Amino acid sequence: MATPRVLSGIQPTGNIHLGNYLGAIRNWVDLQDKYDCFLFMADLHAITVPYEPKQLKDNVRKVAATYIACGIDPQKSTIFVQSQLSAHSELAWLFNCITPLNWLERMIQFKEKAVKQGENVSVGLQGYPILQAADILLYEPDLVPVGEDQKQHLELTRDIAARLNFQFGNEENPVLKVPEPMILKAGARVMSLTDGTKKMSKSDPSELSRIDLTDPPELLRKKVKKCKSDPHRGLEFDNPERPECNNLLNLYMILSGQEKEAVAQECADMGWGQFKPLLADTLVEALAPIQAKYAEVMEDSAYLDSVLAEGREKANAVAGTTLANVKTAMGFTL
Ligand code: AMP
Ligand code: TRP
Repeated sequence: MATPRVLSGIQPTGNIHLGNYLGAIRNWVDLQDKYDCFLFMADLHAITVPYEPKQLKDNVRKVAATYIACGIDPQKSTIFVQSQLSAHSELAWLFNCITPLNWLERMIQFKEKAVKQGENVSVGLQGYPILQAADILLYEPDLVPVGEDQKQHLELTRDIAARLNFQFGNEENPVLKVPEPMILKAGARVMSLTDGTKKMSKSDPSELSRIDLTDPPELLRKKVKKCKSDPHRGLEFDNPERPECNNLLNLYMILSGQEKEAVAQECADMGWGQFKPLLADTLVEALAPIQAKYAEVMEDSAYLDSVLAEGREKANAVAGTTLANVKTAMGFTL
């Protein structure tokens, strides 16, 4: 039997933060031994809101280097740039023509982003989930590991696949494979450093609210020092009155690789003045190897180019076959 396939991606908008790492990338690292992983930079998605071309270009390379720095091995996984494969845009157009408009009007992420854009909402922002469905269905993955926030997009992807199969395929011979979502574990929901009830996010205007993977040690220490705490002594998990305390203990637990019980005991009588430096040291230590590898990969642009060229070729072979099947089923001559 063929090795089951995994597909996932991140938009190259802004720096990769600790939430992206702990919530997404770190899990992919564990998957690459058992699955054939296709991991990409969703740069066509990044242009659904206003952006700078120069930054887009830089961010694509930075995200690729971050994948490798975090332990994605180009020998095992296929790393590629979405926009370098025209199959994504082409399949998205075909899907545009079979997807009812009211399916898109229900999308929560669209509504949230549209509010932020005011007057300036592009057709592309509305079509964002269709392009995501094309990304996924082109590779016929068995699993699509994403955070909780992407669940609705995965459901839409399944609906589009089922609709296309119904309209243009038959039961014995479905055109597209319907993938299973893999919603990654809770615990990997990293909260903002300035408000423990909000998700750590690339779009938060405050730099102090997030930890970027490339923050140098002094900045990491400063961010931890300044992060929101509370007036209580003694630290505890899962007290809904103390969201910051829970978030920071979780980070300490994951980054130090300890069990919850051990951390709960170790920190039960600690004050913030003792805990914060401990967390800062743990963070600096945990990110050091990632940062070293990141710097190495960013320096070696020929290596990064070769990884992306190879990824493009491997991805193209798979995506091209699926696109041809869909076009044939829909009545096009190849
Ligand atoms: P985004 O930054 O929205 O492009 O997200 C890229 C990936 O990181 C997605 O799979 C998200 O679910 C995940 N992610 C983003 N922010 C967080 C967070 N604060 N905690 C955990 N996972 C996150
Ligand atoms: N929308 C995803 C996010 O914001 C990124 C993404 C684009 C994606 N295409 C994808 C994730 C396909 C998984 C599969 O995180």
